[in-house]
Amino acid sequence: MIILVLSLILLLIKRLKIMRETKRFHLEHFRQVAEPEGENDHEDQRQPHPTFGDGANSIFLVEIADADEVVEDGMERLNVEYTNTIAYRVPVDDFVKYHGIRRENQINEEEEFSKIPTGLMELYKVAVQKDNVSKNRYRYVYPYDFCRVVLNTSGEEGSNDYINACYVEGVEVERAYIAAQGPFTPETLDDFWKMAWQENSSRIVMLTNLFEGDTMKCLKYWPNDVMEFGDIVVRLESQEEYEMYTIRHMTMHQDDLVKAVTQFHFTGWPDRGVPETVDSLLRFRDLVKNDRPEQDGPIIIHCSAGIGRTGTFIALDYLLDEGAAKESVDVINCVSKLRQQRAHSIQTKVSLKSNSNFQNLT
Ligand SMILES: *[C@@H]1O[C@H](CO)[C@@H](O)[C@H](O)[C@H]1NC(C)=O
Ligand SMILES: *[C@@H]1O[C@H](CO)[C@@H](O)[C@H](O)[C@H]1NC(C)=O
Ligand SMILES: *[C@@H]1O[C@H](CO)[C@@H](O)[C@H](O)[C@H]1NC(C)=O
Repeated sequence: MIILVLSLILLLIKRLKIMRETKRFHLEHFRQVAEPEGENDHEDQRQPHPTFGDGANSIFLVEIADADEVVEDGMERLNVEYTNTIAYRVPVDDFVKYHGIRRENQINEEEEFSKIPTGLMELYKVAVQKDNVSKNRYRYVYPYDFCRVVLNTSGEEGSNDYINACYVEGVEVERAYIAAQGPFTPETLDDFWKMAWQENSSRIVMLTNLFEGDTMKCLKYWPNDVMEFGDIVVRLESQEEYEMYTIRHMTMHQDDLVKAVTQFHFTGWPDRGVPETVDSLLRFRDLVKNDRPEQDGPIIIHCSAGIGRTGTFIALDYLLDEGAAKESVDVINCVSKLRQQRAHSIQTKVSLKSNSNFQNLT
């Protein structure tokens, strides 16, 4: 279940290696002045792990078949002391070495990560209100009230402001990302575009295919040409297909206003586990990162439920940003912070396949 986190670390190691090689030369003298927090910090700051039952860390996604059956009041949540979360910050330069040593000493990172709090930890009352339940695809995957995206409903009768999506903090930007569920009904399709419009998001990252096996993971929410979604008309301007991803340039139109939006669709993520070619995911992330227009809203990131792959991508991006800005990273803190905003982030069941992928990566 923790395999995504582990592969995330591998991704980071790979990237940081490259970063280090290219930056070492320029930063040598700089570093002596601004020494990052002491190297022993990760030993000293270690605190007792908060522990939960085994169940806390494993979520099995169950689709909500009948909205009437959902009677949750948003109060059944884990009681978590955030102050208890372990933090250890590792300087970028030592990251590779640090994880090497840990692996040699057989420190069980899987167990360590399994102790990061997860589950529903904040109120999610709005998500389970009667008329809103049908907008959730999976049971227990709800946005918290405090950071959910509230749709603008002014001037529309009978519409409601709920969408299964929430803001997630970036390294230096308060609303850097929106972690979202993939649209799965006509209603959630319209809401999805409404959100992109009102948030001024010019980038959408999609981390699932429309179908995986026989299961519809996400509705096709982009047009082949032009399509209307509620009040918003979306036009596909151009499309570039690559082996692992497809980029779609689109425009959204409402009244006389036009906003450009680019969808980055990663098509190479296998049904289970993590992409075998790590490089393509890193390249993909760079693509998303570049060309950021001014006055851009949050990057909308979604898969199907908007927790596993979505969380992994956000964490990857966050940690790379953090490494670049602070020259040190704190993986555990990143994951627990992420989960305080998007419940269950970075979570997948271990399968043999992902295990063997993992072996190949190392
Ligand atoms: C859905 O949630 C919104 C936000 O609180 C609320 O205004 C709306 O009434 C809910 N839907 C219904 C009708 O229960
Ligand atoms: C909400 O929608 C109304 C009607 O479309 C619009 O006039 C208003 O500016 C919007 N408000 C925000 C905060 O976007
Ligand atoms: C989106 O952009 C418009 C026009 O620049 C601006 O008025 C609005 O406040 C922006 N909305 C958000 C959520 O940033």
